[in-house]
Amino acid sequence: MTREEIERHLRTSVFGRTIFAFDALDSTNSFAKSLVQQGAEEGTVVIAEEQYAGRGRFGRRWHSMPGKNLTFSLVIRPEISPKVIGLLSLYAGLAVAETLERHVSVMPFCKWPNDVMIDGKKICGILSEAVISSGRLEAAIIGIGVNINQTEFSPTITKPTTSLADVAGTTFDRSLILAELLLGLELQYDLIQKRKYQTLVDRWLERTNMLGQEVVIDQDGELIKGITKSMADDGGLILTTEGGDRKFLAGDVTIIQ
Ligand code: BTN
Repeated sequence: MTREEIERHLRTSVFGRTIFAFDALDSTNSFAKSLVQQGAEEGTVVIAEEQYAGRGRFGRRWHSMPGKNLTFSLVIRPEISPKVIGLLSLYAGLAVAETLERHVSVMPFCKWPNDVMIDGKKICGILSEAVISSGRLEAAIIGIGVNINQTEFSPTITKPTTSLADVAGTTFDRSLILAELLLGLELQYDLIQKRKYQTLVDRWLERTNMLGQEVVIDQDGELIKGITKSMADDGGLILTTEGGDRKFLAGDVTIIQ
């Protein structure tokens, strides 16, 4: 996928107007972080056909078959407090879910804090990384991995995984989907810039099937069981646990079926 192919489909005014496209890279998030340090402007996108050290949350690896999917990072510079950076993953997940919905007959769901699921299987993972200096959020890197045309997944990936092609039974033009995702991200960005956090949370909640579910949240190895109750306006997940209601700002959640 070349920069020109993406630009042909692009309908945004800011996001993706500067694109760094690579055949192979360690991690688009790592590259984007170095660009931020050199003053990269908002909307800069880094994309790679292959990442040889793609990063997931909690130091995990992100595996994606070269040339089949989308692995990219977007630089944003929102003027928000570092206290609400948890909302950035929700914002991105919401934009991805809404965009993918146009191509499949089932509704993609958001899974807290940053996954998009179809039919209970993961189709997209998001790794948001903040660059904070002197207590101020200077930039954030939104790293997005979406499975598009890959239909076989390594048995080493233990969690159920899917792709657009898997769900729809047809392959997709990745540059077109990327352009659509960037447009969706740009349109929803208004919710962050104008600090309409409650609207963002409400829209996200309309797109999740987690409320009222029994879940286990892994907090640095401590497993906490509870029922998902609601979401705070900073994006924290509120669980009813044995010890009462508790808010979590990060963690790995498993829904108990
Ligand atoms: C997760 O589900 O744990 C998050 C996965 C995020 C993967 C994307 S792929 C593009 C960007 N570059 C990276 O190294 N990681 C993110």
